[in-house]
Amino acid sequence: MHAALKIWIFLAVTCLGRSHHHEGHDQDTVSQSSIESLVAANNNFTFHLYRKLAAHADSAGKNVFFSPASVSLALAALSTGTRGETQRQLFSGLGFNSHTQAGVDQAFQRLLAHKSEEVSQGTAVFVDNKFKARPEFLEGLNQYYSAHGFNVSFTKTKESEDFINEYVANKTNGKIDKLVENLDPRTVMYLISYIYFKGKWETPFNPELTRVDKFNVAENKKVDVQMMYKEQRFNVYRDLEINATVLHLPFNSSQAMLLMLPDGMNTLENAICPERVTEWLKRMEAGTYKVYIPKFSIKTSYSLKEVLEGMGMTDMFGDCANLTGIAEGKLAVSEVVHKATLDVDEAGATAAAATGVGLMPWSYRHVPVLKFNRPFMAIITERSTNNILFLGKVIDPTI
Ligand SMILES: *[C@@H]1O[C@H](CO)[C@@H](O)[C@H](O)[C@H]1NC(C)=O
Ligand SMILES: *[C@@H]1O[C@H](CO)[C@@H](O)[C@H](O)[C@H]1NC(C)=O
Ligand SMILES: *[C@@H]1O[C@H](CO)[C@@H](O)[C@H](O)[C@H]1NC(C)=O
Ligand SMILES: *[C@@H]1O[C@H](CO)[C@@H](O)[C@H](O)[C@H]1NC(C)=O
Ligand SMILES: *[C@@H]1O[C@H](CO)[C@@H](O)[C@H](O)[C@H]1NC(C)=O
Ligand SMILES: *[C@@H]1O[C@H](CO)[C@@H](O)[C@H](O)[C@H]1NC(C)=O
Repeated sequence: MHAALKIWIFLAVTCLGRSHHHEGHDQDTVSQSSIESLVAANNNFTFHLYRKLAAHADSAGKNVFFSPASVSLALAALSTGTRGETQRQLFSGLGFNSHTQAGVDQAFQRLLAHKSEEVSQGTAVFVDNKFKARPEFLEGLNQYYSAHGFNVSFTKTKESEDFINEYVANKTNGKIDKLVENLDPRTVMYLISYIYFKGKWETPFNPELTRVDKFNVAENKKVDVQMMYKEQRFNVYRDLEINATVLHLPFNSSQAMLLMLPDGMNTLENAICPERVTEWLKRMEAGTYKVYIPKFSIKTSYSLKEVLEGMGMTDMFGDCANLTGIAEGKLAVSEVVHKATLDVDEAGATAAAATGVGLMPWSYRHVPVLKFNRPFMAIITERSTNNILFLGKVIDPTI
């Protein structure tokens, strides 16, 4: 059993999968299938990204929590400005291989148009005053990704950082209040996506039944938690192939949470995939259970550059970046950051996340390194006459 307390959450935005009430209209059937195929690609991306993040977190005994929906929204919005191999890598990494840019844009447009009381999702782009982005790039972001656009001056780093962070904090009800830290003054554009979810359990837990109890972090490490308790009928599935129990906790809305309690975390982590989750949901059976779930609040923060590179999205970060759809001249992605929070209590759950993508000019200049770390010679001359005033050789600078 691993040291990390890992929380598996599927804020299955089920309204996407089941809103067939507009049926009979060709346009809607097309949009429904494009959204479904986008969701399928996103679910694939989800587990790929999970395994990468978990691999990093394991060694540190850290929780893992992120919003694949926010990451893919930000990267899809970025992809509208990519061309050539850079675009191919992004599409391949996100699982959009079989889609065109126009298809992806339209699917996101429809996805973002789904309004729900519990989930709010969107994007914004912050552009430096002195940077000339292509108008069609900004118009596309606005039209398909509902992006709000802002002019900022990135040379005033503190102000721009505060402005972006305040925007994200507003959109996530204060849950993500420092998305951007140590903003590079060379930044010319910053693209963000956010998601906020607040759901009430269909049947809440009674706070009077919450008790301090032990949570087994590892074989010889226990911590105290506030354990919530409820006895009632739940939808549960015991996956005997991997020895894990899956609990379905519906919100009083179209969302639900799935909690997976494995006998061995590794077995579950290696086996979990979109098809398996679909299978669980199909095979759930109602039964009466005494259920104990800790009340908790967790926060995570990721720098995704290396992770995305590890998933094949390498070009956008360097010399080969083709971001010619955003502006003329060389540009590259300088950072991709992601922060997320999850709070679970007797009344329900609140989850928020945001992704930030920074862009900077990329200079071809190869900066050579010159390191005097072995014996060297030195001369001091008179600059106007080249008269040598001193000459020496340094073998050991410490004596
Ligand atoms: C999900 O990934 C698998 C394996 O990489 C692939 O065969 C499948 O086509 C992908 N599905 C979607 C919907 O992208
Ligand atoms: C970017 O990709 C486009 C389309 O493939 C290509 O025509 C262009 O030469 C590329 N530009 C750079 C700077 O790589
Ligand atoms: C940003 O500045 C440009 C040029 O100065 C202007 O055309 C544009 O409307 C401004 N955008 C916003 C959102 O203020
Ligand atoms: C955040 O919300 C406050 C209050 O609604 C508003 O005054 C402020 O302009 C917003 N900030 C940003 C960056 O959107
Ligand atoms: C599941 O548990 C049973 C009984 O303890 C055990 O025999 C089996 O090997 C386990 N399967 C896996 C995949 O761990
Ligand atoms: C669920 O939501 C409906 C509609 O908002 C409301 O009437 C109902 O009381 C809620 N049920 C619970 C248990 O909160």
